[in-house]
Amino acid sequence: MRKATIKSPANIAFIKYWGRRNDDLILPLNDSISMNLDNCYTITTVEFGKANEDEIKVKFYKEKYKNLNGKQLNRVLKQVNRIREKYKIKEKVKIYSENNFPADVGIASSASAFSALTCALFKALGNNISEKDLTIETRLSGSGSAARSIPNGFVEWLMGDSNRSKTSYAYSMASSDYWKLYDLTLIVDTAEKSIGSYEGHNRALNEYMKARLKNINKRIKQVREAIRETDIEKLGKAMEADAISLHTVAMNSKPPIYYLNGKTWEIIFELLKLRKKGIIGYFTMDAGPNVHLICEKKFKDILKENFEKFPGVKFIIENKVGEGAKVIREHLF
Ligand code: DP6
Repeated sequence: MRKATIKSPANIAFIKYWGRRNDDLILPLNDSISMNLDNCYTITTVEFGKANEDEIKVKFYKEKYKNLNGKQLNRVLKQVNRIREKYKIKEKVKIYSENNFPADVGIASSASAFSALTCALFKALGNNISEKDLTIETRLSGSGSAARSIPNGFVEWLMGDSNRSKTSYAYSMASSDYWKLYDLTLIVDTAEKSIGSYEGHNRALNEYMKARLKNINKRIKQVREAIRETDIEKLGKAMEADAISLHTVAMNSKPPIYYLNGKTWEIIFELLKLRKKGIIGYFTMDAGPNVHLICEKKFKDILKENFEKFPGVKFIIENKVGEGAKVIREHLF
């Protein structure tokens, strides 16, 4: 069979990937840790050998299928061609892909897209690649955080040694049913972000990055422990500090990058007020203004109720901890 379909999740990082030490090999400046999101995913079908030309179509959130073009097409073709060259394959490819959530707003849409694509390419080729190697191949797509969407549940992506690509891979620290955490993604803006993460990484090497890297190993240790001990307070404190550290670096880039907006801060202040009343959730933000609230089951509904009516929150996506990329039977064509 030269056809396969993969469903792969987005993920939210507790310890973020921000900045690269090697642009070609997508080697990060630090280890990062995330959880997969069960309700934000991409489904991708890949078939080799049927078409005379490459055909790559996508269906973004609430849109119709269209041919992929521009930068996005180039990113996909780069990964397809890299794998075709590596395995000396000449066949053309047909790829259909769809997302069930808004792209490019601080929910890692390229993480789910590039993990689904890479996994589907290998499965369609009938290649029995290991999970570890698949995370490396996914990282090489250019979307580093996508490597974390391949393994199940809570995932760590190791920065690896020097310039050795093989040493920077992702693995599952705990499965999706290990700890019943929730991510309430508060969407305040669905417009495409003006400066993508790729460019953000390029601008990340400033004096604030030095401070970030000085403290990051302590936070990584805290997050590893928090997951092991299922300690939400420990996780929350380290996770919030890490998000603020990323945005400090971004805002001090030259030129500066402002991903957060007024609504982001209003939500954070409201969350802090609720926390004082004993309603516990913790925030994190990726490269966009939307806020991810991480909480345990007992506070999920009350947090959701509070923020559903909060001015500026357009809608909320509720996620449990998700599994990693997996084969599904229903093809998209
Ligand atoms: C802020 O380079 O993996 O989400 O290719 O746009 O998905 P895309 O981004 P990538 O950077 C991700 C940056 C981040 C933090 C994180 O997920 O670790």
